[in-house]
Amino acid sequence: MKEKLSQIKAEALKQIENSDALEKLNEIKINYLGKKGELTAVLKGMKDVAPEERPKIGQMVNDTREEIEKVLEQHIAQMEKALRDAKMKKEVIDVTLPGKKNNVGHKHPNTIALEEVERIFIGMGYEVVEGPEIEKDYYNFEALNIPKDHPARDEQDTFYVTEDIVLRTQTSPVQVREMEKGKLPVRMIAPGRVFRSDEVDATHSPSFHQIEGLVVDKNITFADLKGTLAEFAKELFGEETKVKFRPHHFPFTEPSAEVDVTCFKCGGSGCRFCKGSGWIEILGCGMVHPDVLRRCNIDPDEYSGFAFGVGLERIALLKYEIDDMRLLYENDSRFLKQF
Ligand code: DAH
Repeated sequence: MKEKLSQIKAEALKQIENSDALEKLNEIKINYLGKKGELTAVLKGMKDVAPEERPKIGQMVNDTREEIEKVLEQHIAQMEKALRDAKMKKEVIDVTLPGKKNNVGHKHPNTIALEEVERIFIGMGYEVVEGPEIEKDYYNFEALNIPKDHPARDEQDTFYVTEDIVLRTQTSPVQVREMEKGKLPVRMIAPGRVFRSDEVDATHSPSFHQIEGLVVDKNITFADLKGTLAEFAKELFGEETKVKFRPHHFPFTEPSAEVDVTCFKCGGSGCRFCKGSGWIEILGCGMVHPDVLRRCNIDPDEYSGFAFGVGLERIALLKYEIDDMRLLYENDSRFLKQF
């Protein structure tokens, strides 16, 4: 019995010594110390031992068990520590390494210009509204005094969806939609995308953006229009900026004007930027035509209004001195990150 025990012990210790993985150690544990293990088998054989010998043998079995257990636990602990150390070594973080640089996006010059224009008009008490890009012929043309045979239709090469539906050629239809709501007074700007069947070049694109402006109230005069746009120009291009109103024609305003600002590059003395004239055209405007008001159920004897339309790209190109509109649509990040 005694020999058998020391044989088991020697064999177990040798196996432990030779194991190179945790699973193997666990296996040894089961094989030697488990319920069906070798030591349990020895205990089962106790019935053949003389009664007076039993306590002694029992004690020996226990000693053997304890010894194997002790060595086994030591090895398991060692092996777990080695695994943990290896894992830690692999996961080590060098906090002195330079960080990864995140590429931060940039606002598009159009967005910057739009936010600037919105800020100025919101400051003057205007609301920002939007209208549909796919528009009824009625809103884009008819309601704005541009009937089917009007020559102004040729100036704005139109994408027709059906005979009565167009891709809007201007943001002016939003004026009509806003007035139709019947909530007076109106003080709004309406930024948005417009479409014209134009060839792409440095100053044209089949899709660009406008910002429409409209004020309707009692006693609105051309002086209000002039004051408003003069203030807008100063805020946008600088305190010294002056405005000039040139008579013009738009079907939906009467009288109508185009507005120039003094060149912010040369201050008005003439330079390459303003092509020597000292002035730069920035928008079209006028007093809302009485027929347009009437169509929106507004009595022109009681109410009057002014309107204006600005090209957003034009503002962005001027403000950031970009000389080719196509750059605004290519979205080359090397270009965009300059703003
Ligand atoms: N819709 C005009 C255009 O696209 C611009 C314009 C001119 C808008 C005069 C207006 C305005 O509201 O009063 O050329």
